[in-house]
Parts: sequence; structure tokens; C-alpha cells
Amino acid sequence: MAASLIDGKSFALGLRGRVADAVSGLAARGIVPGLAVVLVGEDPASAVYVRNKGVQTREAGMASWEHRLPAETAQADLLALIETLNHDPAVHGILVQLPLPGHMDAEAVINAIDPAKDVDGFTIGNVGLLGTGQRAMVPCTPLGCIMLLKDRLGDLSGLNAVVVGRSNIVGKPMAQLLLAENCTVTIAHSRTRDLAAVCRGADILVAAVGRPRMIRGDWVKPGATVIDVGINRIEEDGRTRLVGDVDFENAARVAGAITPVPGGVGPMTIACLLANTLTACCRANGLAEPDLTGAA
Ligand code: GUN
Repeated sequence: MAASLIDGKSFALGLRGRVADAVSGLAARGIVPGLAVVLVGEDPASAVYVRNKGVQTREAGMASWEHRLPAETAQADLLALIETLNHDPAVHGILVQLPLPGHMDAEAVINAIDPAKDVDGFTIGNVGLLGTGQRAMVPCTPLGCIMLLKDRLGDLSGLNAVVVGRSNIVGKPMAQLLLAENCTVTIAHSRTRDLAAVCRGADILVAAVGRPRMIRGDWVKPGATVIDVGINRIEEDGRTRLVGDVDFENAARVAGAITPVPGGVGPMTIACLLANTLTACCRANGLAEPDLTGAA
């Protein structure tokens, strides 16, 4: 293996430590950042994520509330809960776990969240702020990716970045963040012609397609930095394995640096959620935001 590993697990641990330190600094002023997470229905994977978010929020010294609503909840009742949380001064961050049950209009629900408390960065207001280079709440997974990239590469100016995947949650905000770092950005997707050739032009290759090992080793430019956002559960050799969107074995022979799955981007998402909650709390209280990047 030629590539060096980008250890997201250890970076996330450090980030959570920096958040916890800043939270104890706020406690001296009587301020406690608070995150409310709303889960509608009983999707088992979502329930696990929500539980982990609660545990890590409390570990960082923040207040955590979990609102669990039955799958058949009327949308009006969910909107009423969001309205209550919007007006609760103890709540600095609100996260509505996706996906929502089919009878709900997810866009209407997400956009009911006060943009200042939208720690997912999914409201139209925050999407618009990010797209115009203004101070936004930034979606957690792309924020985690950009932190790992800057930690590894320093200045990203002028690098060719290819983002494979165009979701609102990862691909599009990732492209905006790379553009803000002065990268030359290409967004590739399922209809892209000659995806292999597009990927081979990338100094930074971000894979966020949700298809196991789709990005092959010979699509990676020698020395490139590869960020694998995929978390896919597959059956292989009679056991269940987690693999990314990148063929890690082969890509790692060519890349300069690469995130593993698990232990790469995954742990960064909740760490960045905590960072966003702290940021929202500081802004709500008119306080300077701590630098959480770990930069010296
Ligand atoms: N479901 C899967 N990922 C996410 C996320 O980042 N935020 C929310 N709200 N729901 C999710």
C-alpha cells in the first residue's frame, strides 16, 4: 500500500475534545449548548444514529433532547414541535433525522427549522448562504471532509477536485466548500460520460455515491487524495462487511492519501454536528466562535 491513511476516527476524537473544552469554557458563563434531535418512526438504522448522537452530545458536556414520534404522526404535529423548539432558548441546534415517513413533505419539514438552529445546514436559507460564500451552517459530512482535507493538504487552492455524487446532503455542499477553498471543481454523477477519465484528473477525489467499491483503483491519479464518504453493508465470504464507494485495496496502491471505511469520514459526521451546535450556541449568544479545526 503506497497511500497514507487519513485517520478520521482519531481526528474526530480530537475535534470532540476541542468542542468539549469550548463547552466547559461556556459553562463558566452559565451557557450550556443544547441539541434537540427528532426521530419519526422506528427505522432501526436511524434509531442507532440518534442514540449515538445523544451519547456524544452529552459526553461533550452539552444538553441533549430526543423527541421520538410514532411513524403515523401528522405532519402538522411535527411542525408544531419544530416551532416549539425554534422558540426554546435552551435549544441551539435542531436535527430532524432523515428519511421521514412517506406521508411527510421532507422539504417543508426541514425548512420549518429556524436557519440559525439548522445544525444540518439543510434549510434553503443555509444552502443559499453557503452557495453565495456567506456565513452558513454547513452540512456535517462535507464539513468533516473539508477538515480532513485541509489537515492533510493545507492550502487547497488550484487543485482539481472531483466530487462523484450530487446529493443535497453531501455532493452539492461538498462542491461548494471545495470551490470556497479555490479548487477547480467537477461534480460527476451517474450520467457522467467516461467517469473513469474524469476521476483520473482529480487531485482530490470525493466519492459519495452509495455504491460499494464503484470507484476503481485505476481511476485514481497517482498521488491523489481520496475521500470515501460511502458506508455500504455487503455480504462477502459469508460475513457482513462495511465497504466504501472506493475499491480501497487497489486505490490505496495508487493514491497519496485515502480515508478507510470504517474509520474515515464516518466518525467526522457526529463530531461536526457537535461543532455546529457549539457554533450555533456561540452565535446565539453573540460570542466569538472557537477555531475547532485543530490548526496550529
Ligand atoms: N440521515 C442520514 N444522514 C443524515 C444527516 O446527516 N442528517 C439528518 N438529519 N438525517 C440523516
